[in-house]
Amino acid sequence: MSEVRIEPLKNEYIDGLLAVEHLCFATPWSRDTFIYELESNNLARYYVALIDGQVVGYGGMWSVVNEGHITNIAVHPLHRRKGLGQTLLNTLLLYAIGASLTDVTLEVRASNEAAKALYEHNGFVVEGRRKEYYSDNKEDALIMWRHFND
Ligand SMILES: CC(C)(COP(=O)(O)OP(=O)(O)OC[C@H]1O[C@@H](n2cnc3c(N)ncnc32)[C@H](O)[C@@H]1OP(=O)(O)O)[C@@H](O)C(=O)NCCC(=O)NCCS
Repeated sequence: MSEVRIEPLKNEYIDGLLAVEHLCFATPWSRDTFIYELESNNLARYYVALIDGQVVGYGGMWSVVNEGHITNIAVHPLHRRKGLGQTLLNTLLLYAIGASLTDVTLEVRASNEAAKALYEHNGFVVEGRRKEYYSDNKEDALIMWRHFND
């Protein structure tokens, strides 16, 4: 595989990120949302994975007091199972540790076996469930946490 680079999100990567977003999610976030996250949300950190300069994945997190909230991790379908999701998650977790966050949480669709496996292999545990959280199909969200001090 060509070399993978991880970089903080910049404006020039938004088009590529949106292409990945639309391939990965039934209810993709809009361009305006990502521009807000990049330019106006001081709590947000986003990273992109690049191969030959093309965006093939991204991951994002909000820092809220001592907690990290992972907003999303997504990898282009043609580049899955090559470690990119793990690399993006490592990047977010290292950022969290560097920022002295004590806990990281996220929501994941109950049926999303790939994402649940990724998070479980990284020490995340299901601690809650939001009933019918996803509006497109009324699917439940599992709330997962990783506590760095456990
Ligand atoms: C979840 C996702 C980000 C994983 O990305 P990826 O680059 O394929 O993941 P990696 O190759 O880094 O896999 C790391 C580990 O996650 C687990 N995993 C990833 N995909 C899996 C799958 N389809 N089935 C089971 N386990 C899987 C495995 O434990 C894997 O380790 P292994 O390959 O050594 O077995 C990717 O499937 C994706 O973009 N899905 C659509 C978007 C999404 O649902 N994001 C999560 C929102 S909460």
